[in-house]
Amino acid sequence: MTTVEAQQPVLELRNINLSYGSVVALDDVSFKAYAGEVIGLVGDNGAGKSSLIKTISGVNAPDGGEILVDGVVRHWRSPHDSMAAGIETLYQDSGLAPDLTIGSNVFLGRETRRRGVLGRLGFLDQRAMERGALEQLRRVGITIPETNRTVAELSGGQRQAVAIGRAIAWARHVIILDEPTNHLGARQSGEVLKVITSARGQGLCVLFISHTLPHVLEVCDRIIVLRLGRVVRDAPTTEFTVESLLGAITGLNE
Ligand SMILES: Nc1ncnc2c1ncn2[C@@H]1O[C@H](COP(=O)(O)OP(=O)(O)O)[C@@H](O)[C@H]1O
Ligand SMILES: [Mg+2]
Repeated sequence: MTTVEAQQPVLELRNINLSYGSVVALDDVSFKAYAGEVIGLVGDNGAGKSSLIKTISGVNAPDGGEILVDGVVRHWRSPHDSMAAGIETLYQDSGLAPDLTIGSNVFLGRETRRRGVLGRLGFLDQRAMERGALEQLRRVGITIPETNRTVAELSGGQRQAVAIGRAIAWARHVIILDEPTNHLGARQSGEVLKVITSARGQGLCVLFISHTLPHVLEVCDRIIVLRLGRVVRDAPTTEFTVESLLGAITGLNE
């Protein structure tokens, strides 16, 4: 058996620093992430989680440090660059267009990046696009009866499933999910956790940001704890309990 440590990290951060004026949001953040791994990213409000994912996805440019994808140092000019490198990010606000169909949402904004796929399907062939979307979502374990309904007609859980499905369908290396189970019921959260497991099974690296520690402990292989912009723990999930994880997040009991 090859251990993950023997592989090349699919994503690596080296000494990332980011400040907003005098506020230090990320302080010397380094970690490695591997294909087929679900990593929990946890921390209190203001710990730097959103700043970190925005840096990985190219929304923020770091003040210092390096981001490597497949061992190569990359500099993002915009989120399009990180997407082109195979990194998909689902922000807290899903970014779906409620008035468009599910199918249209799955292909939204892909025109320039996936000319091949869209070229084959044809820009104006709505039905072919709906079929393509259905296939994409099925591939990641999401079954939606018809993709020609608008997103506005879906339940919260179904919307989230479409948003995650869309991100996973297009991701080639890394998928970043910011609080994907927020505002979902237990059953719907369970569905989302299943989709995360399915993404891992496809060899993606998943960065899972969540405040719901039982979800993190259930689905993650490893957990990175941020506190005041610094990585204070980075360890296999088996080394944590809810209590010790809370302790690492708050810094109490130290
Ligand atoms: N756009 C911004 N301008 C100024 N300060 C910010 C901005 N975004 C975040 N911060 C600050 O950076 C720190 C990290 O915030 P953030 O990355 O949002 O943490 P988290 O997502 O873990 O709650 C906090 O102190 C926050 O107040
Ligand atoms: Mg945040």
